Amino acid sequence: MTTTHLGDLTVSPIGFGCMALSHVYGGTTDEAARETLSTAVDAGITFLDTSDVYGKPRDGASGPAGTNEEMLAPFLAKRRDEVQLATKFGITAPRDGTDAPAKRTDGRPEYARSACDASLARLGVDTIDLYYHHRPDPDVPIEETVGAMAELVEAGKIRHIGLSEVTSEELRRAHAVHPIAALQSEWSLWSRDVEDRVVPACAELGVGFVPYSPLGRGFLTGTLTKEQVAGDFRGGTSRMGEAWDANQKIVEIVAEVARRHDATNAQVALAWLLHRAAQMGVSAVPIPGSRKPERALENLGAVDLRLDADDMTQLDSIRSLVEGSRNIVNNPTWISSGRE
Ligand SMILES: NC(=O)c1ccc[n+]([C@@H]2O[C@H](COP(=O)([O-])OP(=O)(O)OC[C@H]3O[C@@H](n4cnc5c(N)ncnc54)[C@H](OP(=O)(O)O)[C@@H]3O)[C@@H](O)[C@H]2O)c1
Repeated sequence: MTTTHLGDLTVSPIGFGCMALSHVYGGTTDEAARETLSTAVDAGITFLDTSDVYGKPRDGASGPAGTNEEMLAPFLAKRRDEVQLATKFGITAPRDGTDAPAKRTDGRPEYARSACDASLARLGVDTIDLYYHHRPDPDVPIEETVGAMAELVEAGKIRHIGLSEVTSEELRRAHAVHPIAALQSEWSLWSRDVEDRVVPACAELGVGFVPYSPLGRGFLTGTLTKEQVAGDFRGGTSRMGEAWDANQKIVEIVAEVARRHDATNAQVALAWLLHRAAQMGVSAVPIPGSRKPERALENLGAVDLRLDADDMTQLDSIRSLVEGSRNIVNNPTWISSGRE
């Protein structure tokens, strides 16, 4: 299996997004989730992505759920040395897709320290390979948050620093305090705003890019139904709610390219990302998530799919066809393009 670099961190060319193993898109049991992970790691998908906020919140509890990290702990107890482990802190309210009035992010140094200790304890590990600040805190300069994360590196609690949904300017300020290994934001065939400023800044600074929701939260695969997404928060988004029918033409374009290569839509979506990242001069590692082991293997197959110039042109046309925003929160500043 080939490897890729995110800054100085060496990872598998496709990672695994563990959020999809929790309740958010339907969920599964913790045992089944760990079996899917075993299949993925056996096959060479060793870069695992979680967050303290993923997983079902406990009744009556507030703040990050921590239950996705807890699900991972027994798996890591057996296979810690085989994986590169990424987790995140900073989103303090449960994610339900609504614009909760409560403060949703925390980037204070003391919070970074306590959140890191809590994640280490839940995960049952001594160190986190890549620790992200999940969302900038509008009340705390990013230099202060990253300064605290740099101290966590010094203390050996984390190995590399990542940031999620930062603007190019926030990235530059943070990178001046401590090298940033990876920036994680949504990037896919139907979410391309990061190509304007954020991806070029990563390419210039040598920061790796981790595209989240690389399959468009499942939409681009063509396997979802309207009824299925109506049962979770995706149905409440503009793209998968009122624009569901209008956006079907996007799925058809992906399917057309897939048929030409005897591949699946998911493989085309992931291969497009790898090709586009190479064109833009950035090292990128998408992190698709699935509850199904066979889909994890299918997604890894994208590494071997070669798209030609005609494929890329056809897929590029999707950009202008998308209806609805990628933002799942009713607040433009929640994503980087809303602050740029
Ligand atoms: N930093 C952030 O703010 C942020 C935000 C969102 C996500 N993330 C990270 O990014 C990861 C991936 O994002 P995501 O889970 O939102 O979206 P995604 O990976 O684009 O899509 C996941 C969905 O696609 C389905 N799927 C996966 N592989 C498939 C295949 N080969 N064929 C058909 N369907 C397939 C899954 O369903 P099944 O389970 O039924 O297969 C799941 O519902 C997350 O797990 C999380 O780690 C980060």
